[in-house]
Amino acid sequence: MEEKSKRGSHNPLPLAASPLPGGAVRLQKLIAGTGLASRRKSEALILAGRVTVNGKVVTELGTKVDPGRDHVKVDGKHLSAAQPFVYLLLHKPKHVMSTLDDPGGRTTVKDYLRGVSVRVFPVGRLDFDSEGLMLLTNNGDLAQALLHPRYHVPKTYLIKVKGVLSDEEIKKLEQGVRLEDGMTSPAMVKKIRKVEANSWLEITIREGRKHQVKRMLEAVGHPVIKLTRVRMGPLSLGSLEPGEFRFLTDREANALRELVEQRVAAIEQGADPMVRQKRPVRREGWARPGKAKKYPAKKVQVA
Ligand code: URA
Repeated sequence: MEEKSKRGSHNPLPLAASPLPGGAVRLQKLIAGTGLASRRKSEALILAGRVTVNGKVVTELGTKVDPGRDHVKVDGKHLSAAQPFVYLLLHKPKHVMSTLDDPGGRTTVKDYLRGVSVRVFPVGRLDFDSEGLMLLTNNGDLAQALLHPRYHVPKTYLIKVKGVLSDEEIKKLEQGVRLEDGMTSPAMVKKIRKVEANSWLEITIREGRKHQVKRMLEAVGHPVIKLTRVRMGPLSLGSLEPGEFRFLTDREANALRELVEQRVAAIEQGADPMVRQKRPVRREGWARPGKAKKYPAKKVQVA
């Protein structure tokens, strides 16, 4: 799409709605595409009467504009030339909000992005008391796609739970457990190690329901004591310490885009990517004691 090919060195992502006839795009999409605001915030800017097209206030969502011809301003300022996409990986510490603002004045992920001048938005949430990998980007289309329940991007959590799960309980998690909002999809569970009366596990899920991992473990009688997201699609937390962030490498950003493109293509062809997923393979036994102490940095895999 025209609007995307102007940006940065990355390949455009064919996720957005196709170009409208005559190269026109929807106003909210154009604004979001510059990285000024998320798609939802761009819509709010339009509804609030803060956007003009060729000098006239436009409040109708979906108004079509031609980026090559129309003059779009937000709060009286021209939409700046499209910014390159930025992708950050933050290790959200515990007791930090995964949002950009908190009405209660608590620390948020924004407080950890010192020196980042581009407006980036968190892709998904982590509970206040959870920690781990958070992706932040100004690429609204990619963020939306990664969050879309149909794309099933796998997320892996390293968890410490109360007690030790039996094989039967692990099987239940792998096959799906009944929560108040329905059965969960198959998960992958790997035993890491026992620590006195408790144990460490790694669980990979492809859904993103609220408090999902905690609720799944609660459902099999083993409440979560500590939860760290260690992987999301092709991204790994690696050796980032809590509070640290880094920019994604081009290779990682491309792997993310490819993952999403594959999912989009599979869905367009009528295949549900979940169906093609192999059944989870359970690994028997525990990892060797001490091996899992420092979570190993995983090599980034190109999807
Ligand atoms: N599942 C949870 O229960 N909490 C998180 O923060 C993430 C996944």
